[in-house]
Amino acid sequence: MVDTIGSYVQNRYPTHIGIIMDGNGRWAKQRSLPRSMGHFEGVKAAKRIVKAASELEIPYLTYYAFSTENWCRPAKEVDYLMNLFSTRLFSEINFYNSVGAKILVRGDIARFPSSVQDAIHATQDATSHNSHIIVTLAINYGGQDEIVRSVNRWLSERTSVTKDFSAEEMMKHFDHPEIPTVDYIIRSGGEKRISNFLLWESAYAELMFVDSLWPDWNKEHLVQACEEYANRIRRYGGVLDE
Ligand code: FPP
Repeated sequence: MVDTIGSYVQNRYPTHIGIIMDGNGRWAKQRSLPRSMGHFEGVKAAKRIVKAASELEIPYLTYYAFSTENWCRPAKEVDYLMNLFSTRLFSEINFYNSVGAKILVRGDIARFPSSVQDAIHATQDATSHNSHIIVTLAINYGGQDEIVRSVNRWLSERTSVTKDFSAEEMMKHFDHPEIPTVDYIIRSGGEKRISNFLLWESAYAELMFVDSLWPDWNKEHLVQACEEYANRIRRYGGVLDE
């Protein structure tokens, strides 16, 4: 649904939502469980929100699943996450097909164990025919790293010394230039930071910080966040007509 306010267009619900899934560790700690159990439940929440977003006709959902900075977590936690990615995330092909989700990855996956890389490729291939919702998993992803990789791609492809670098060239060389910039970044877990997520693409994104810890998230949280977005007016640096 689209409303027109002056010359500014407000989509009722966002086209592209980015989610920073925070609070897994605290969720587990509150229950005297190991942090890994928070991540395990976090995957279940991620699936609930994929299904909800699909039902709400949100075309693009990007999850911040593992940042370029997350490698500095204890080795045991990193290993657990790698295992979780291959066994519980890049393995749910029936589920993704049932909600019409095409799975993509953003980030530099070369650093992942081959078991994870194989699972990623298999899931991407097996869901490539879906188009109802595009779910991108940002793994070994950092906004700064994406910008650097984009510039390097441009440099390596450059054939003419007279060609100038530009915002358009930058975006053309991102991991998925076909995905529109993010409209709405939601962070669970109460912290109020962007943490190197979609730095370039969020230039005019609306931001939403929610206290609920990620493993508690369900469709109701997503609907409430989208309703909040629907009441905002985006001006993109302009002013509203009187
Ligand atoms: C933050 O919780 C979450 C992460 C580091 C990313 C891992 C996310 C999951 C495993 C959720 C699963 C979903 C997908 C799509 C992979 P935290 O450990 O920082 O929590 P804390 O702030 O309470 O310590």
